[in-house]
Amino acid sequence: MHKSMSRRLFLQGTTAAFSAAAMGAAASVSAKEMVRPTPLYGPPPGVAKLNANENPYGPSPAALKAMMQASQKGAYYVYDSVMRLKTMIAERHGLTPDHIALGSGSSAGLVAAAIVAAHKGSILGPDLFWDTTAKVVEVQNIGEIKRLPKLDSLAIDLDAMYAAIDDSVSMVQVTNPNNPTGMLIDPVAMRNFCIKASKKCTVLADEAYNELTDNGDANSVIPLIKQGHDVIVARTFSKIYGLAGMRVGYLIAQPEKIQEMQRYGIGWYGLNQAGLAGAIASYEDHKFMDYSRAKVKEAREMVSAAVKENGLTALPSVTNFMFVNLGDLNAETFRAEMEKENVLIRGIYRDYTNWSRVSMGYLEDVEKYTSALPKVLHRMS
Ligand SMILES: Cc1ncc(COP(=O)(O)O)c(C=O)c1O
Repeated sequence: MHKSMSRRLFLQGTTAAFSAAAMGAAASVSAKEMVRPTPLYGPPPGVAKLNANENPYGPSPAALKAMMQASQKGAYYVYDSVMRLKTMIAERHGLTPDHIALGSGSSAGLVAAAIVAAHKGSILGPDLFWDTTAKVVEVQNIGEIKRLPKLDSLAIDLDAMYAAIDDSVSMVQVTNPNNPTGMLIDPVAMRNFCIKASKKCTVLADEAYNELTDNGDANSVIPLIKQGHDVIVARTFSKIYGLAGMRVGYLIAQPEKIQEMQRYGIGWYGLNQAGLAGAIASYEDHKFMDYSRAKVKEAREMVSAAVKENGLTALPSVTNFMFVNLGDLNAETFRAEMEKENVLIRGIYRDYTNWSRVSMGYLEDVEKYTSALPKVLHRMS
């Protein structure tokens, strides 16, 4: 292949920032060797990918640089970088590295937590939450998920949750902010619930979207772990940090709980050098996080305005996605019609047939959603 052609393909297949870093830091790898068809690493050109709550503005420039450097040391296992990241997280919260378990995304830790819980009893959750990992226990036939009744507000009723914890429940799972609703629980109510509930069973707080909220620290229950409560918090580098494809997440819990969960596949062996480097470089990158949060807010305002203009409503989201009420329209048909407009969103969740989740992404992609919305609604009416 002609040299300029392969360079052009390379530039198409990666972000401009990555290619700049790659060219600078890895002069020994020729552009020709790195040529890949574009769709291999992300959405095809022209497609607005708004279906997985990713942050396309990531990875941050610092993360890209660190990942390039780390990839050159890909021959080595990751023990030291795991210790580095665990220590950084522990120091921030006044804990020890023994309180932290890293995993391949937070999914790895959430699966481990679900399996440990299933061996002791059932998992209790609201009717609608990010249950992908908890469902593993049902798929494997080792446990069950008990769900609270559906609420019209789609909020999580913590009083009902507390009342439903009986002897059969070993873990209660709260996604906060919740996915797919995008709603946040009042921090004082959440804290009090965790203190009370953790006397009866383990409380798992999935805080994947915490850093997207305006005051993440105030909305987190991590401080309860330092106070000794039986609370597990799951966090991830997949959301605000823009590292979903690099697969780094973590659990924070009492050290004995961490040890129990480490029996089920979390720990240093599930991680990779580049992902860890990206996470370490991003962890305290407040400039990038502020930038991402601002972009997400702008996108939410665009979607809110479009939803209103088209006579629909959406739940009050504090995250990088919104749950839109389509009235009497079917969310799966709506998803399929949106796909015809090159806009990828989510279809139906459980039996919430008229609710549709859209992620915030590049503003130009969000604009594709807002312009396709009236067209699709018109077609479906
Ligand atoms: C609430 C919640 N928790 C956890 C995850 C898992 O993400 P990851 O495994 O990339 O950390 C997701 C992914 O969308 C999520 O929405």
